[in-house]
Amino acid sequence: MQTTLPTIDILVATTSGNTEYLADQLSDQLQQQGFTTRLHYEPIYADLVEAIDEQSYWLACIASHGAGEYADSMLDFATDLHAKNPPLDPLRYAVIAVGDSCYDTYCSAGRDFDHKLTKLGAKRLIERLEIDMSVDDPEKKASTWLTIFTRQL
Ligand SMILES: Cc1cc2nc3c(=O)[nH]c(=O)nc-3n(C[C@H](O)[C@H](O)[C@H](O)COP(=O)(O)O)c2cc1C
Repeated sequence: MQTTLPTIDILVATTSGNTEYLADQLSDQLQQQGFTTRLHYEPIYADLVEAIDEQSYWLACIASHGAGEYADSMLDFATDLHAKNPPLDPLRYAVIAVGDSCYDTYCSAGRDFDHKLTKLGAKRLIERLEIDMSVDDPEKKASTWLTIFTRQL
């Protein structure tokens, strides 16, 4: 049985800052529950992927931009991940996909990230949350989802 709460790496894909704000709120909520968090506003592939071990937990907050592309701050990371296809076996993770349902490519980047991590062997802790910026209250919806997420840790 695990006695200490795990450290959670929060990966942020943002272009205009909404997802960064959301990630900050979630980080605060996690810290209030006693978790240690590390926020990655521009996730570095080498720092994160090459450091994966049995204690690795990722919470990925991914906004879609362009035509379903990753938001700017994670474009390089996503490119590397798709090019290198590293085995991610010990990693445990969850994804919050941020988007707007007025786009045909609704939440495409977050969906892609979720599928890619699973395909590479990482373990999904909880079903992906999708936030529709045109209808949802992002902080409220994510906060409720986070309480379920933390029960998996
Ligand atoms: C130019 C542009 C393109 C977008 N493309 C998509 C898209 O393909 N799919 C989607 O679900 N949302 C799309 N969105 C909506 C964004 O995901 C949404 O505005 C989100 O809040 C942006 O998060 P950010 O501020 O963290 O970058 C787009 C928004 C803009 C401004």
